[in-house]
Amino acid sequence: MRTETPPPVRLAEYRPFPFRIEQVRMLFQLEPADTHVVSELTIRRTGDADAPLRLDGEKLTLKAIRINGQPLTDQEYAIEPEGLVIFKPGDVFTLEIETDISPEANTELSGLYISSNRFCTQCEAEGFRRITYYPDRPDVLAPFFVRIEADKAKCPYLLSNGNPTGSGDLGNGRHFAEWTDPHPKPSYLFALVGGEFDVLQDNFTTFSGKPVKLSIFVEQGDAPRAEYAMRSLKAAMSWDEDVFGREYDLDVFQIVAVRDFNFGAMENKGLNIFNSAYVLADGKTATDTDFEAIESIVAHEYFHNWTGNRITCRDWFQLCLKEGLTVYRDQEFTKAMRSPAVARIKEVIRLRTRQFPEDAGPLAHAVRPNTYARIDNLYTATVYEKGAELIRMLRLIVGDEAFFAGMNRYFDTFDGTAATIEDFIAAFQASTDQDLSAFALWYAQAGTPAVRAKGDYNPSERTWRLTLTQTVQPTPGQPDKSPVRIPIRVALFDVNGAKMETRIGDAPPSHEHVVLLEKSSMQFTFGDAASEPRPSLNRGFSAPIRLADDLTESDRASLAGFDDDPFAQWEALQTIARALILDAVRGGAREPDQARLNSFVQALRHSVTRAAQSDAAYAALLLYLPTVGELILDVRDADPSAIHVVRQHVRRAIARALEDLLLSVLDKTEPVAFDSSARAAGRRSLRASALSLLSSLGDRHEGL
Ligand code: SER
Ligand code: ZN
Repeated sequence: MRTETPPPVRLAEYRPFPFRIEQVRMLFQLEPADTHVVSELTIRRTGDADAPLRLDGEKLTLKAIRINGQPLTDQEYAIEPEGLVIFKPGDVFTLEIETDISPEANTELSGLYISSNRFCTQCEAEGFRRITYYPDRPDVLAPFFVRIEADKAKCPYLLSNGNPTGSGDLGNGRHFAEWTDPHPKPSYLFALVGGEFDVLQDNFTTFSGKPVKLSIFVEQGDAPRAEYAMRSLKAAMSWDEDVFGREYDLDVFQIVAVRDFNFGAMENKGLNIFNSAYVLADGKTATDTDFEAIESIVAHEYFHNWTGNRITCRDWFQLCLKEGLTVYRDQEFTKAMRSPAVARIKEVIRLRTRQFPEDAGPLAHAVRPNTYARIDNLYTATVYEKGAELIRMLRLIVGDEAFFAGMNRYFDTFDGTAATIEDFIAAFQASTDQDLSAFALWYAQAGTPAVRAKGDYNPSERTWRLTLTQTVQPTPGQPDKSPVRIPIRVALFDVNGAKMETRIGDAPPSHEHVVLLEKSSMQFTFGDAASEPRPSLNRGFSAPIRLADDLTESDRASLAGFDDDPFAQWEALQTIARALILDAVRGGAREPDQARLNSFVQALRHSVTRAAQSDAAYAALLLYLPTVGELILDVRDADPSAIHVVRQHVRRAIARALEDLLLSVLDKTEPVAFDSSARAAGRRSLRASALSLLSSLGDRHEGL
């Protein structure tokens, strides 16, 4: 047993693999305890003439090894703790390797394993090396041909990546299936499934008229519960065509649901494998949140077909290249399918509750780190969620036109390759005058920037000056931070709630601006400001920062009543609610200050009345008060019960002030038949908020 910790892997030590795998042919003879795997690799040397061939391997029993049909002697290769090395393999050759593995003994759910009597795989990040000896790294891409043989009764379905190109009977109760994947892919995208399933089928025609057969494989009797996932898949396929111009590229697209799965789901080429929790849903057992998660995860894995599979990562340090970008894409899809206001706010809540603590703690790391101890440690909210925010900022900085031009250039230039963040950014640099090298620092520097904003109005010059200052606290291994390029969306409102049209420098007048804070401190002067404005800053949460501004609470409350940016409006109300409750708790009071509470409730009434007409899900979110659990994070040594008492008081005040509104929400009867649409879900969530608030008034609404 090896006990020492392996040395960390470093980005700076990346070296290309000195061979190209031109073709992979594999044979699987499936047996639970003893699966026989034959791989035949056509290999060409591309690097150093003396380089030995090193293959990764783990928990494998080597049965045979041949080059160009000749078995290797013991002197020609060696088995090492982490794989196998062939000292002088030659320059162009065919390598055949036969291994035995035991899927039923594989309890780590990495490689080939068994879940409820079905064979399935998970190869990201390093599972393929538990199937056969192979260069198990994302920058080695090859086309795969796979033949699977198995017991016909136990495994009527035999699936792998690509298109089905053969099947037949083998006699003795066994059969086979063959799959050809013409798209070169790294081993982490390999997948194989064998077993008995119920199948839900459908069809999709791509924008160039190509038919695609869609199948979702689930346990017996579950097919009807996969219908929502199927609908989500078709919506995702259309959306990727409409918005990113990306067309699907195989004859079939398959999703398999299994019970035992470490990740939520996995984007294997043409054969996505899911934890069944993210496939199965029906009106009787699933919540609206379940439906939303299915829609988003099905889309996420599908979108990987281009961002991850057609273009993959050169090494695992570049994980955000596929994950950050794909999360960004699934987030935009959710906004197209549901309330964009609610979707954005939920993204921010998620970022703040999952990623900000990472950035602030001992595990803080950059979106693209330059060293890792264990690869599993890289699948973090920073890589995924903050990675998505960086794409969103990039789009805001370069503008929509340059963003989509850059995306197209990225797809055209790097299709079929394993790319880096530098490649990605270069694709956009060609379409914009903005210097993106400064933006790239976001990928390398960990930590959440803290930004302070201060406004000064000059009535005689009719100017409003915004001073922005940024700091980033040191994080482990990065004691000195540099300023990053922060795009902040700004709108100014006058005292009557009208959006002001102002100018920055020589730019044409506008109701909204994006200022770029790229130094530690900068000032921006807004001209043509006829009266003292109330600024709405970081609208839409345009940058993943902690922002502190100098608005008074009453200005914030009146701004919240009319701000037309849903995130900014929600944020303002949350900020006030938080301060209101916590100030009372700190002062030892059981109730918040009455005047402050009144102005908060008034702002809430304004905003909720407007939202309830147009976007019920958003109205529900506006009514959401930070929970005791969230509030307690903001105070030292707080007594949760004291927070609870004040919070309840605020809830009752809201319920009393909005009683008519809340009752009218309940008056609208729900349709009898369940409807899983986003609109219906929004109505349900507003109803639930209304009920919950009204119930705080006690017996007055008993029996609701
Ligand atoms: N690559 C998988 C996914 O993003 C596992 O994280 O869905
Ligand atoms: Zn992903």
